[in-house]
Amino acid sequence: MPDLITLTIDGVEVKAAPGTTILRAALERGIYIPHLCDHPDLEPVGVCRLCLVEIEGRRPTVSCKTPVEEGMVVHTSTPDLERTRRVNLELLVASHDYNCQFCARNTRCKLQEVTRYVGLQQEDMDRLRKPPLDQPLDDSNPFFVRNMNKCVLCGICVRTCAEIQGDGCIDFAYRGIRTKISVMGDGPIAESTCVSCGECVARCPVGALVPKKAEEPSYEVETVCPFCGCGCGIIVGARGGRIVSSRAVPGHPASGGSLCVKGRFGLGFVNHPDRLKTPLIRRGGKLVEASWEEAVSLVAERLSRYSGAQLAVIASAKCTVEDNYVLQKFARAVLGTNNIDHCARL
Ligand code: SF4
Ligand code: SF4
Ligand code: SF4
Ligand code: SF4
Ligand code: FES
Repeated sequence: MPDLITLTIDGVEVKAAPGTTILRAALERGIYIPHLCDHPDLEPVGVCRLCLVEIEGRRPTVSCKTPVEEGMVVHTSTPDLERTRRVNLELLVASHDYNCQFCARNTRCKLQEVTRYVGLQQEDMDRLRKPPLDQPLDDSNPFFVRNMNKCVLCGICVRTCAEIQGDGCIDFAYRGIRTKISVMGDGPIAESTCVSCGECVARCPVGALVPKKAEEPSYEVETVCPFCGCGCGIIVGARGGRIVSSRAVPGHPASGGSLCVKGRFGLGFVNHPDRLKTPLIRRGGKLVEASWEEAVSLVAERLSRYSGAQLAVIASAKCTVEDNYVLQKFARAVLGTNNIDHCARL
């Protein structure tokens, strides 16, 4: 492990690994610096200008892009910083559609956090108020809604889509106060190359990207996604005996904190009323419910009519490794066939 760097932030001695930014070093030490465009999973870009700090002997700078240095003395709050930060925030939210009570991000919103810290008042807002953006909602995606009237142009979704998902279907469009996040041609996102992974939704710091189904769970359980062999780590939220949410386990060894559309939005099958709960046997052209004993006996009887290469076995990535091992053993040793395949992804 490399030697840690020692610096001082607001009079507190802080140690951090080389390459750590001042912002991350401060947050890890419990010192809050307002920030909107920084995300630990993404390369910093320094666009919101809220994380400004003063470093003794230097001009004010953004802490999210400045690595720690030995002996640095950093101040996160001075009269000049407070003034500049306030103006930067006012400009950023002058067209923001503040409607927190009905916003899906309410109480978990980074803009609320920053606004509280800066102490923005209604009169500050009124002084600068730009015309409302009045952008139409884009609810073309089956799983999430885009409300650009709440967007703070932090670019986190753009970087997430490009750096993490590798899709790159959204970007900044237009100029000046018309700047917005858009897909190619400014159409609905459902008509773009978006694969609905929801990675951008999970990282958007405000209510601009929110899931269509957003119910607060009463408790959460960490587990593994049941859909495919990648084994991504998920945190499943439940309420009243139903699954109501799913999110990625941060830094999970198999998935690194990401999920695909199935793991994030596809768990509705668990409580779906059409879900099969018993085996079905076709009788008189109709599928009718049967017991496991009946179903297994029927399968055994039918299998005994064939042998060797006449038989093929398809395993499932939804099974455990042990189940699949037993299945291939059964195919080779009992049925006498090497015709074994699988669906690694569902
Ligand atoms: S995005 Fe945040 S500040 Fe804006 S309305 Fe929603 S909760 Fe309020
Ligand atoms: S859902 Fe995934 S693919 Fe679609 S815009 Fe967001 S990050 Fe990109
Ligand atoms: S949609 Fe969300 S993540 Fe994307 S730029 Fe706007 S506020 Fe940032
Ligand atoms: S279905 Fe998607 S989220 Fe689930 S394990 Fe496979 S890749 Fe991961
Ligand atoms: S968090 Fe540093 S500029 Fe936005």
